[in-house]
Amino acid sequence: MTRLKGILLALCVYVNIANAVQYADDLPPGPYCGARRNGCCAGRVDGCSAPIIGTLCYCDDFCDRVRNEDCCPDFQAVCRGNYTVQEIRVCHHRGQYYAYGKTAKENCNICKCEEVGGRVEMLCERNACLIQENIIDAVNQRPDQYQWRASNYTEFWGRRLDEGIKLRLGTLQPHRFVRRMSPVRRIYDPNLLPPQFDSNQKWRGYITPIQDQGWCGASWAMSTTATASDRFAILSEGLERVQLSSQNLLSCNNRGQQSCNGGYLDKAWLFLRKYGIVDENCYPYVGHDDSCRLPKSGNLISARCSLPLNVGRREKYKVGPAYRLGNETDIMYEIMESGPVQATMRVYHDFFTYRSGIYRHTNLATDDRTGYHSVRIVGWGEESDYHGRIQKYWRVANSWGEDWGENGYFKIARGTDECEIESFVLGAWPFTVDPVSKNDI
Ligand SMILES: *[C@@H]1O[C@H](CO)[C@@H](O)[C@H](O)[C@H]1NC(C)=O
Ligand SMILES: *[C@@H]1O[C@H](CO)[C@@H](O)[C@H](O)[C@H]1NC(C)=O
Ligand SMILES: *[C@@H]1O[C@H](CO)[C@@H](O)[C@H](O)[C@H]1NC(C)=O
Repeated sequence: MTRLKGILLALCVYVNIANAVQYADDLPPGPYCGARRNGCCAGRVDGCSAPIIGTLCYCDDFCDRVRNEDCCPDFQAVCRGNYTVQEIRVCHHRGQYYAYGKTAKENCNICKCEEVGGRVEMLCERNACLIQENIIDAVNQRPDQYQWRASNYTEFWGRRLDEGIKLRLGTLQPHRFVRRMSPVRRIYDPNLLPPQFDSNQKWRGYITPIQDQGWCGASWAMSTTATASDRFAILSEGLERVQLSSQNLLSCNNRGQQSCNGGYLDKAWLFLRKYGIVDENCYPYVGHDDSCRLPKSGNLISARCSLPLNVGRREKYKVGPAYRLGNETDIMYEIMESGPVQATMRVYHDFFTYRSGIYRHTNLATDDRTGYHSVRIVGWGEESDYHGRIQKYWRVANSWGEDWGENGYFKIARGTDECEIESFVLGAWPFTVDPVSKNDI
């Protein structure tokens, strides 16, 4: 009777390791013969075997042959008591065996089976990971304390916190003289502001969809182009529905800006004002640093963009000077009258795991590093919390794709400058053009 050929194939990794108790890198180290209740067998007994990776290995005398590739890796050690050949160097870690030198990834950290003082042990890196299970659990276990829920995101799993801060945010804090920019004054009656407002409902189809910056710190460019795009559509009453190019800003607004490592919002708005930018179709987002494809000046024709048919536009899309909104009700009035505004915010570790509800940062993170981010406030509202108290919120568009948060949006506490979100809020007027008149055709 011949033993199965499949077994020979499966275990051919043992060729030339005769007599050595040695574990091939990709084989679990056992025990095999060591786990048999009836132990090893004399002579050749085909039933004297143990299961190994979907097949069988043998524990009988036949394994004394020189080529014992179908025998269990621990045959010599268990059946012949020959431990002198080679030390078994295996790490046991979280219910798994790892051969010496093998690595495993645990969230954002690499673990390696290494020798430490004569023993082998699994040693792991200790970076703070973007997704921390304990933050998610702590938030979700206390709906009475936190008004938001947290979840794991596949996209963020396995990444370090510092990568998230560097590449998922990307707004540089305004210089002191820019922060002193005085807010515009608006004349309105704060008592007449509605308790709830959503740009997506008032200007259906005009509001820029949720974008995804990818692993590039481009929030400075994305929030600027999205806010400007919304305002082009709103002010033109739908005639200039355009998605402006973030890559145009990312690649071409490079003086004092750091592309995927972040940028200043005042410089971005100044670029839109001085030079203007083209639309997304003409200069699509690639999400990494590359050299500018367009001359700064010039128009849509010299940039070889296709021209809109319904309006007489030749110029790139430009805006007037950006202005700052000073407080909660001014921001509300501005959104209602002119459209979404751009806001900056401090991002704490727990924000990356936000899933739904009204966000307030917690002190659950053990790592207190934070970053600066820019987003687009599209509306506001109120809802009652676990204890029945009314809580006010802003409705905000993020740039982490539609799978994050509430379809790409989040709600954050309003009126308390949560995460500094009310500290530096900007708007700008777009320079729209007239519709194509009969004379032009
Ligand atoms: C133990 O292993 C050594 C080295 O491979 C070999 O020379 C020796 O014959 C083995 N002893 C027994 C009892 O199998
Ligand atoms: C998070 O998601 C990843 C990938 O989808 C998964 O491998 C991981 O086990 C999840 N982590 C937690 C804590 O649920
Ligand atoms: C914000 O400032 C305006 C004046 O610009 C004032 O009328 C309004 O009451 C202020 N709102 C809040 C919430 O302080």
